[in-house]
Amino acid sequence: MHHPTSEQLTSLIDAARCPHCATRLDLRAPEIACSGCARTYPRLGDIPILLADPKAYLASCRRRLTLLEHEVRKTVRKVEEELRGADVLPLTRARCRAVIEAIQGQMADVRTLLEPLLPAGAQEGPGHPLAEDAPVTLEYLPYLYRDWASPPEPKGENERALATVEAVIDGRALGRTMVLGAGACRLAYDLHRRHREAEIVVIDLDPILFAAARAVTRGDPVSIREANWEICEVEHGWRQWVLAAPDGPVDNDRFHFVLADGLEPPFAPGMADTVVTPWFIDQGPDDVRDLISTLHRLLRPGGVWLNLGPLRYEPEAPIALRFAREELFDLAARSGFRLDRWRTEVVPYLVSRLNGRGRMEWVLAFSATRLEAPPDPPHADSSEDGPPSWLVFGHLPIPTFPGQSVFWSAVPVFQMVVSTIDGRRTLDDVARLVAERARRSGLSMSQIRSAVRQCLAEVHPECRKRE
Ligand SMILES: C[S@@+](CC[C@H](N)C(=O)[O-])C[C@H]1O[C@@H](n2cnc3c(N)ncnc32)[C@H](O)[C@@H]1O
Repeated sequence: MHHPTSEQLTSLIDAARCPHCATRLDLRAPEIACSGCARTYPRLGDIPILLADPKAYLASCRRRLTLLEHEVRKTVRKVEEELRGADVLPLTRARCRAVIEAIQGQMADVRTLLEPLLPAGAQEGPGHPLAEDAPVTLEYLPYLYRDWASPPEPKGENERALATVEAVIDGRALGRTMVLGAGACRLAYDLHRRHREAEIVVIDLDPILFAAARAVTRGDPVSIREANWEICEVEHGWRQWVLAAPDGPVDNDRFHFVLADGLEPPFAPGMADTVVTPWFIDQGPDDVRDLISTLHRLLRPGGVWLNLGPLRYEPEAPIALRFAREELFDLAARSGFRLDRWRTEVVPYLVSRLNGRGRMEWVLAFSATRLEAPPDPPHADSSEDGPPSWLVFGHLPIPTFPGQSVFWSAVPVFQMVVSTIDGRRTLDDVARLVAERARRSGLSMSQIRSAVRQCLAEVHPECRKRE
């Protein structure tokens, strides 16, 4: 079968690839099937699920929904028990009743939203162990209230996010745009409304946020309750919000939803003109440097990385990987990006209209252009410049070195790594080769990459010069 080359493709959605064998996928077909490996990719409602095991993902959505309901029932029983106390005042009883009503109602709303989208066969079975990648939780619901239930306000959270991103876009056309970790999708929607020429593909793993965002952006309002444990005023125990797109539905030819891993989006390289990472780089990847390599792969030369968000890493992230603004800019430059514009500001974040609670957050916005050629390597004899960039990032070629052909080591993995260096392969290529040979080791790509990195740091003369 003839498939157009990347250059011939004009649409980003046509650049989707099979997560297994990288064959082109037709996401517009009624049934998404890979002509390379014959795998099929089901949908959540009409959203394609481009994950290695989409059936396990769907099964895990259903199972987690059931678990969530179980948790809600447990909580309700506990509150009911507390209400049996002889000392409970009528107002306290009213508040506790409000809590019960709210969490039960919220759960019912979530089920009404998600359940009809899960194919009947999406059952957990022996063939489908619980996938870790189906985040069915109520934790992210505040994104829905903020994105789709806030009234328009000049200084509203959505308006500010859009204005900050527009300031760093600086009038450029967005073109083929991918939004990674798009969440409830309001920023992507606003960019879609503003940039009529842009084609936007939103990527996330959260089925609840995407189910709601898909409905809202199609023009179908969604009703969902906001519930809080901490009720400050009994009369404001909970609220029913109607989520709706403020400027009407999206143009389905230019706005596409895909459930996929935003750390390795299954799309052909060099096809994106813009990649947006809103509140994602500190939450999605274990190591931002790996994501930078992914962004470099997705973007065409001259394409733009737009970032917005805090540098507020997960609590378990090692200190050395909690990169501050200056380090992030240094990493971007070393990996082949030119920083264009940036700004920081302190903004309100997820302030609930139900109870006024929320926080202020420092955010960094920037735009950076992917350069045509990799950056010049730092001077090989200077330790001040830090490690070579090909050791830090997954996408830069590792140079051959004198004496490589006669290199010998008693450690087999060292021998294997050195034998794969050909001046073109990158850290990721080598890690993939090693992983193929060590498939049964159960190690993640990130662990293998790190082992290969350590090995290169020991054997490659360009690294040893810097010690
Ligand atoms: C902090 S939220 C930000 C949501 C949205 N960008 C916003 O600004 O409101 C992070 C988002 O990243 C998504 N996410 C985390 N890891 C992901 C991954 N590996 N692939 C795709 N999405 C991911 C989460 O589901 C969540 O929607």
